[in-house]
Amino acid sequence: MQIKCKVNHQEKIFETSPTTRVLDLLREDGLTSLKEGCGEGECGACSIFMDKKLVNSCLLIAAQIKGREIMTLEGLQEETKELRENYVKEGGIQCGFCTSGFIMRSLDYIQNGGKKNEKSVKEAFDGNLCRCGGYQKIVEATIKSMK
Ligand code: FES
Ligand code: FES
Repeated sequence: MQIKCKVNHQEKIFETSPTTRVLDLLREDGLTSLKEGCGEGECGACSIFMDKKLVNSCLLIAAQIKGREIMTLEGLQEETKELRENYVKEGGIQCGFCTSGFIMRSLDYIQNGGKKNEKSVKEAFDGNLCRCGGYQKIVEATIKSMK
């Protein structure tokens, strides 16, 4: 089946089964910022934006992105520049496996006018898991990136 959509501002046509997971489809297309942590919608490591909404790509199948606009971290380099720098400066990255997903969550939080306080950021991040336990630094990096 042909799946037409936009990925990182480019028109794409995927030849694939309609039930292929979007996580696999995009990773096989070279977009390896997406990681498979749990594969069950619990960790946020596979986060993408679909029509500007943050979603877990492990829970989506190819047929669901037909005609949609998909953004991955690869396509959001400018928008996440300050966040990425602050994650490094604040020590918010350890093994790095969860990092792309957290940066996508931070961006979503900031773009949606999230409050600049620790409690609110922590609550907003409850869909993301870091097995290295780097939460505090990630929260600090996010707050530092807010105006
Ligand atoms: Fe998708 Fe964990 S791999 S939410
Ligand atoms: Fe290792 Fe988060 S930095 S899983």
